[in-house]
Amino acid sequence: MSCKLKWVLVASAVAVAAMFTACDGQGDQSKKRVDVLPEAQEPVASAKSVVVFYSQTGSTKKLADIFVAARGADAIELQMVQPYPSTYDSTIAAVRAQRDSKQWPALVNAKLDLAKYDTVFLGFPIMFGTFTPPIYSFLDSNDLSGKVVVPFCTYGSGGRKASAAELKELEPQANVTLAYGITNKRINAEGGVEKAKAEVESFFADLESGKTDEMLMGGFSEQRPLAAEDSAVFAEATADYGYLGLKPLSVSTQVVAGTNFLFVCEMKAFGGPAVQANVKVFRPLPGQGAPEMISVEK
Ligand SMILES: Cc1cc2nc3c(=O)[nH]c(=O)nc-3n(C[C@H](O)[C@H](O)[C@H](O)COP(=O)(O)O)c2cc1C
Repeated sequence: MSCKLKWVLVASAVAVAAMFTACDGQGDQSKKRVDVLPEAQEPVASAKSVVVFYSQTGSTKKLADIFVAARGADAIELQMVQPYPSTYDSTIAAVRAQRDSKQWPALVNAKLDLAKYDTVFLGFPIMFGTFTPPIYSFLDSNDLSGKVVVPFCTYGSGGRKASAAELKELEPQANVTLAYGITNKRINAEGGVEKAKAEVESFFADLESGKTDEMLMGGFSEQRPLAAEDSAVFAEATADYGYLGLKPLSVSTQVVAGTNFLFVCEMKAFGGPAVQANVKVFRPLPGQGAPEMISVEK
């Protein structure tokens, strides 16, 4: 087992199991010990959910840790046989080649024993607008039929909805739920993990009450032309996203503890063709921080 694979948490009962395994074949006394094994293993057997994730540069791993702790879930980090190169540009080239050829990368731990889990929290970075290629490898090797699959992701600007929609399409026999996503900028900022923890808790509340994306949009006002204040909020929140070529056309708001803004924009990402995009921005209550770009969804 590789070092990283050891991160697969199977509670302290595994250590107990390993101790008993080591006693195998050592006479009656060891047999008696083996007899008590099922009881000793109970915490493992009762774990019903697992967090399966891939992370290249650590942001999704931070989020996966939050899901593991929040749900007392087991965790499995997917490992590529040949990891992506260390630079961003060469990773872009490698992912593009995989997507063009649909040759998904080999995983060290492709086939997982998921039989005991009824819920799989599936975590990934967004690459090229949807989940990263190792997730296709995972889906090809495992059967998620009948399981609840809860997607979560980190991204530069967005891809939460598109990736969840693709997952639903590829896994029609699974119950793919509402997805959670956060920008790498927000989770890696000072206090970002605490912020993500709070959001994940409210995400669970939304999940448990059966909320859909459409329902979450329910509290927004009608779209209206931008006032000077809206433009200022947009400019501040998107200052780091010049490469998306965003031009806000209209806005609606939703009052929460702070204000959510939904800007309908024209987007020319990397100088490409104009498409429509919805840009979500959160402005905290006065004195509680600057407006933040939450997501860009086409
Ligand atoms: C090859 C590649 C493609 C990416 N494509 C997108 C994208 O289409 N949209 C986006 O918002 N972020 C994109 N990103 C940014 C990643 O989603 C983001 O950095 C993520 O948080 C990385 O997660 P990790 O640290 O767990 O690997 C891309 C990153 C890479 C390396």
